[in-house]
Amino acid sequence: MLCPMDLRKITAQGTSLFDVFYRTGRKRRTLDEILVEVRDRFACLPGGAVTELAQLCRVAPDEVRMRAYAARVPIVDGAGALSPRTCVITVCRGASCHRADGRRILDTAKEVLGCSPGDSTKDGRFRLECAECLDVCEEGPALAVNREVHTRLTPKDVRRLLG
Ligand code: FES
Repeated sequence: MLCPMDLRKITAQGTSLFDVFYRTGRKRRTLDEILVEVRDRFACLPGGAVTELAQLCRVAPDEVRMRAYAARVPIVDGAGALSPRTCVITVCRGASCHRADGRRILDTAKEVLGCSPGDSTKDGRFRLECAECLDVCEEGPALAVNREVHTRLTPKDVRRLLG
C-alpha cells in the first residue's frame, strides 16, 4: 500500500503529487491531467516520483515516462524538494546532447549557479537538474529553463541565460 507521506517527501511547501492527484475532491484524475499540472507547477517530474505516480494511476512506469515526454515534462534525477517559485534549470545529459559537447553545458551551468545537479542555489531561486532527454535530440546540446527549452547551446549562451 502506498503511503501518502512517501509522496509528500517529493515536493516542498505542503504540495505533493498526492495533492495534485486528489486536488479535485477525491475524484481520480487521469495521468495526462496530473502531468500537465506537474509541468505547470513544478516544471519537471522528479525521477523518484515515477514509480509512485505509476502506482497511483495503475500503469507501468514506462507509461509514465512515455506520457511525460509527450507532455514535455522533463524527468529529472533529483527527488528533492521543488517549490513553484523555484526556477528549474534542466540540462539534458542524453546521448545526443553528450555527443554535441553537452558536458560543457552542464559544467557551465554548475559554475554559474554555484550548485550541483539536484541542488538549489543559496537564495533558493534556481534549482539545477539533469534529464535523460528533452526531446530535441537533433538540436542539442539542450537545456530547459522551467518549460522553455533552449537548443544548440554554447557555454557563452548558458552564461547569458543564467547570468
Ligand atoms: S538527448 Fe538531449 S534532447 Fe534528447
